[in-house]
Amino acid sequence: MEQKEQLYEGKAKKVYATSDPNLVIVDYKDDATAFNGLKKGTIVGKGVINNRMTNYLMKKLEAEGIETHYVEELSERRTLVKHVEIVPLEVIMRNVVAGSLSKRTGLPEGAKPKMPVLELYYKSDELGDPMINEDHALAFGWATREELDSIAATARKVNDILTEFFASVGVDLIDFKIEFGRYQGRIVLADEISPDTCRFWDSKTKEKLDKDRFRRDMGGVEGAYHEMMRRIGLKE
Ligand code: TMP
Ligand code: ASP
Repeated sequence: MEQKEQLYEGKAKKVYATSDPNLVIVDYKDDATAFNGLKKGTIVGKGVINNRMTNYLMKKLEAEGIETHYVEELSERRTLVKHVEIVPLEVIMRNVVAGSLSKRTGLPEGAKPKMPVLELYYKSDELGDPMINEDHALAFGWATREELDSIAATARKVNDILTEFFASVGVDLIDFKIEFGRYQGRIVLADEISPDTCRFWDSKTKEKLDKDRFRRDMGGVEGAYHEMMRRIGLKE
């Protein structure tokens, strides 16, 4: 598939047009940001790891009946995906209290809610991705009732599948962020699933194996990303 003009550049990825209007190429960068771009850095090799891990997980989810944007891995950092219109919502699923949920509730990191918690954030860099609810999304036309129902059901199913998979490789899936797109009238899972967008804790030691090591200046950032590749069984 021929790569054409750049359509978009985000904090961690670039998107290019192709000769097929229904398909685009995603190109993963090593750039890392946190706190809405306030903190900037590089995680060497991250683009390759996030590309390959995302594709592995998207294929697993497709096999379980979840439609994703994944089409074909083109190279270490580049993947052909469906050209979706991104729904302007960040969907977060939480199995264990951490990060902003700990700050908001005062509950300690590691506390276990009675059930997985789904949260919605409005995707807006200018506003710093504020948390919203379904009424906001409906009232301001960010998604329809049917889309929200599909998004919530899919997010919970993704959580069940990924939680079970990561448990099998000795990793607790603490929480994660996913995004959805519209494609030919359907809602499909888009964006990435990687140590940038998930919290992974070693099941036994509770060691952090994700981007929190970068956000919190803990060191061992690259090592954590490589360790997650190794756990999943992906060769580098
Ligand atoms: P939070 O605790 O900071 O709200 O993050 C919850 C989860 O969402 C965590 O796994 C990291 C992920 N996340 C992103 O992928 N992008 C973001 O911009 C933020 C704030 C969190
Ligand atoms: N990538 C996000 C940003 O730069 C935040 C994060 O992952 O913590 O704001």
